Amino acid sequence: MSSISARPSSFMSTSEYEPPADDEVLRLVQAAISARNHAYAPHSHFYVGAAVLLHGGRIVEGCNVENASYSLTQCAERVAVTTSVAEGHRNFRAIAVASVGGAMPCGACRQVLAEFGMDMAVYTVDVIDGEQKMRLLSELLPDAFSGTDLLP
Ligand code: THU
Repeated sequence: MSSISARPSSFMSTSEYEPPADDEVLRLVQAAISARNHAYAPHSHFYVGAAVLLHGGRIVEGCNVENASYSLTQCAERVAVTTSVAEGHRNFRAIAVASVGGAMPCGACRQVLAEFGMDMAVYTVDVIDGEQKMRLLSELLPDAFSGTDLLP
C-alpha cells in the first residue's frame, strides 16, 4: 500500500488542524477497507466502506446500504457518521473511505460531514492498488452552508 500524500497546499494557511499520526491513519484506512466487506450494494455493485476517527482514537465504521427504491440508498460515510452520533460520539477528526478507484465522498456526504466541523481530514483508498489520498473537508466543500447561515 502506498503512503499518504503530503499535506494539501492549503493546510498551513487555512487551518490549525493537525491530521492524525501515520499509525492512526493506517488503522482508520484498514477499518474502512474492513467495513467495505459489509457493504450491501446489489444494485450498483459499487461497494464502499467508511470509518470515522474520533478525537481520542475511537473508530466507528459504516458501509453503503442500497435499496431497490434507489433514492433510499445510504452512503457508507453517512452510515458511519450517523452510527457514531447514535453511539454518542460526534467529535470527528478524520474519515477514511474505501472503494474501487478510491472515490471521494459525494456532495451529500460532504455536507453531512460539514455539520460536525470543517476541520476533518478525508482519506480515500483504492482497494485495488492501495493508492491513498488525503484532503481537508474544507477543501472538498468550500464556503459550506452551515448552522451559522440560519442565524443571519
Ligand atoms: N456511495 C457511497 O457509499 N459513498 C459516496 O460518497 C458515493 C456513493 C455509494 C452509494 C451507492 O450505494 C453506490 O455508492 C453507487 O452510487
